[in-house]
Amino acid sequence: MLMLGIDTSCDDTSCAVVEDGQKILSNVVSSQTDLHSKYGGVVPEIASRRHVEIIVPVTEEALLQAGVTLSDIDGVSVTHGPGLIGALLVGTSFAKSLAYGLGVPLIPVHHLAGHIYANFLGKDVPKFPVLNLVVSGGHSELILMKSHGHFRIVCQTLDDAAGEVFDKVAREMGLPFPGGPYLDELAEFGDPGSIFFPLPKIEGFEYAYSFSGIKTRAILEFQAKGESEEFKADLAASFRKAVVDQLLHPVKEVIDKTEAKSFAISGGVAANMLLRREAEALCKELGVPLYVPPPELCTDNGAMIAAAGFFKYQCVGRDMNEWLYLSPSAGLELESWGDGYS
Ligand code: KG4
Ligand code: ZN
Repeated sequence: MLMLGIDTSCDDTSCAVVEDGQKILSNVVSSQTDLHSKYGGVVPEIASRRHVEIIVPVTEEALLQAGVTLSDIDGVSVTHGPGLIGALLVGTSFAKSLAYGLGVPLIPVHHLAGHIYANFLGKDVPKFPVLNLVVSGGHSELILMKSHGHFRIVCQTLDDAAGEVFDKVAREMGLPFPGGPYLDELAEFGDPGSIFFPLPKIEGFEYAYSFSGIKTRAILEFQAKGESEEFKADLAASFRKAVVDQLLHPVKEVIDKTEAKSFAISGGVAANMLLRREAEALCKELGVPLYVPPPELCTDNGAMIAAAGFFKYQCVGRDMNEWLYLSPSAGLELESWGDGYS
């Protein structure tokens, strides 16, 4: 099945062609970073307008690179939330028209399911049950999957997302937008032991993340003594270690309790070098295989949406016409797909 995958949830316009949820024939991402960088963050209205301008050429390019035409496409998958509502509206309206015009199924995909399915592109895929750490600009969650389409959120953030705090601390330190990757690089030159950030004390939840305290502490440290390049690198290294330590803190216990057979990390922050190294060490200790997508599949892209759409179609497909009435939702909750299948 040849699936077109479209994502316009934030500031990247993405379209991909994927065969059977596994083989990427093309994956075109048009970044808007240059448009938003002078504002230090994504401006929703500018993002939506740019999606309108670029979605047709991006789709044409994806078809061209895949060596196929629209008449070869068997289904259209699209992110319908969560994200910026104006941006989502562009992608969903475009995908609906395309699916309706071609007479093929339209498959709405939750953005987090998309990130998770970046690890299912290719031949070597995670074994169920799989524990997913999804870390992006808007989310930090541990999600257990016992089979395709069965999602159970085990741990989530009570305040900021990990990517968000990377970006905010980086912005304060004068690094370019989006700051996560720049802070990651700077941290390679610093001493992670120079500033101690304790794990937050969270009561009333079995598992939960909280990053806003670490963020505020890092910003205050920088404002107090951030002038020297050496201090900046030490702060970046210590802050990055605090975020990564917290992200991985519950993983051993959850894997033991749930008897998960694999651990998979996805989302933009999965590109973080320390997170990858520390997760590798942890998985080695636990004897559990680790899955992390290549960097270009960590950040937003259409291939992960096409992959998730393909597997969702296997779970609950065949009667897709009602989805032509779908409307996007900025705060969409992650729901399982029917009974799933394994
Ligand atoms: O998944 P994504 O492309 O978009 C969302 O769905 O949010 O993630 C983007 C986020 C940004 O916050 C970006 O700074 C962060 O991922 N990011 C990183 C790294 N690469 C991207 N954060 C830390 N270290 C990195 N190497
Ligand atoms: Zn994302």
